[in-house]
Amino acid sequence: MSDGILVVDDEPMILELAAMVLGTRGYEVFRAQSGEEGLRMVAEKRPAVALLDYMLPGMDGMTALRRIRQEFPETYVVMLTGKGSEEIAVELMKAGASDYILKPFRSHDLLERIGNVLRVRRAELSNLELRRERERLLKEIESWNLELERRIAEKTQELEAAHKELLLGEKLVALGHVVAGMAHEIRNPLNAISLFAQILHSGMEQGSEAAECAEKILQEVDRIDGILLKLLATSKRSHFAPEEVFLPAVADRVAEIFAATFKAHRVRPRLDIEPGLPVILADPGELEQIFTNLISNSVQAMAGRGGDLGIRMFRDDRFIHIAVSDSGPGIPRENLSKIFDPFFTTKEKGTGFGLSVVLRIVKSYGGAISVESRDGEGAAFHIQLPLGGEGGGSSRDSEAGPSN
Ligand SMILES: Nc1ncnc2c1ncn2[C@@H]1O[C@H](COP(=O)(O)OP(=O)(O)OP(=O)(O)O)[C@@H](O)[C@H]1O
Ligand SMILES: [Mg+2]
Repeated sequence: MSDGILVVDDEPMILELAAMVLGTRGYEVFRAQSGEEGLRMVAEKRPAVALLDYMLPGMDGMTALRRIRQEFPETYVVMLTGKGSEEIAVELMKAGASDYILKPFRSHDLLERIGNVLRVRRAELSNLELRRERERLLKEIESWNLELERRIAEKTQELEAAHKELLLGEKLVALGHVVAGMAHEIRNPLNAISLFAQILHSGMEQGSEAAECAEKILQEVDRIDGILLKLLATSKRSHFAPEEVFLPAVADRVAEIFAATFKAHRVRPRLDIEPGLPVILADPGELEQIFTNLISNSVQAMAGRGGDLGIRMFRDDRFIHIAVSDSGPGIPRENLSKIFDPFFTTKEKGTGFGLSVVLRIVKSYGGAISVESRDGEGAAFHIQLPLGGEGGGSSRDSEAGPSN
C-alpha cells in the first residue's frame, strides 16, 4: 500500500494540473481518464487516495466512488465536483467520499484537503489495525482458556481414575489379608469333614442311599475347597517364582488347554502375535492365570451362540501389550467400573474373582489393564506389562498373607 494518489478526470488539463501540483509535493501520482480505468488503477496500484471527478463519461463518478469504497476500503476518495452541485456533495459523502473539492480549485486548497484526508486515513487505519490485533489477542486468550480447561478436565479425570485404582488396590490388599486368613482356617476343618466322609463312605454299601449322601457331601466339600482356592489366588502370591517367560508360548499353552472348550462352544480363536517379542521376567503361573481368566470370561460371554476370540500381542518401547477381545454381548456401561471388584459377578455360578486376580497380577508387575466394550459387539481387555520385567517383587510383601 503506497501513499500514492490517483487522479481520475477526463479533462487532460485538470489531470495534468492536479498531477503536477501533487507531484511537486512528493506524492506518487497515477492518472486515469475514465471510471473504468480508475478502478483498474486502484486495483493495481492501491493508492492511498483517489481524486475522482464526479462528471465522467462511461461509468459515472458516483458509481466509481461506491465501487472503490466497497472493493478497496483502504483507498480513500476525494471527489471533484463542478460549482453549483453542492447538494450532490451530501450524497457523495453518504456514499463514502472523505471530502469533496469544487472545481476550479486552487492548488493550495487541493494540497490541504489531500493532506487532511491522508492524516485521517492514517489514524483510522492504525486504529483498525489495533482493533484487529486486540481481537486476535482476545481470540488467542480464549483458545488458551479452552485449552487450559481441557487440560484441567483431563488431569482431573486422570486423578480420579488413579484415586479409584488406588482405593481398589488398598481394598484388595486389606481384603487379601482377611480372606487368606479365613480361607486357610476353613480349609483345615474342611479337610477333616472330607476325611470323615470318605471313611463313612468306604464302610457303606455302594449305591445305597447313605453312600449317595456321603458322595454328595464329598462333592460339596470339593466345591467349597475350589472356591477357597480361588479366594486364596485372589488375595496373595503363593509361589512367586520369576523366570524368563515368552508370553506367546504361555498364550499357546492356555489356548491348547481351552481347545476342547472352544470347539464345544463354537468359539473361533485367533492369535495375532508380533514376531520377535522379547522374554520378560515373570512367574509363568501368574501369566497363565491372566490368560485363563480373560479367555474363560470371553468364552462364557459367547457361550451358546459362538463367536470370535482374538488374542493380540505386540510391543512398543516400554511395554508388551496383550489384547483379548471377543464378539460377545459386551459389558453394560453401568458395570464397567465394577468388574474388577472382587465378588462382582453377573453369573449364577460366578465368584467374581477372575478379573480381580488379573488386576492384582498385572499391578504387581507395574502394568495396567483397561477395558473397552461396545453393546452387543463384544468386550476387549487391554493389558500392558513393562518390558523391564521387574517381576513385581515390590508388592509381594504388601500382599503377603499366610501361605498355604
Ligand atoms: N468378556 C466379557 N464379556 C462380558 N462380560 C464380561 C467379560 N469379562 C467379564 N465380564 C463381566 O465381569 C464380571 C466379573 O468377571 P470376573 O471374571 O471377575 O468374575 P466372573 O467371571 O463372574 O466369576 P469367576 O471368574 O470368579 O468365575 C462377569 O461376571 C461379567 O459380568
Ligand atoms: Mg471370570
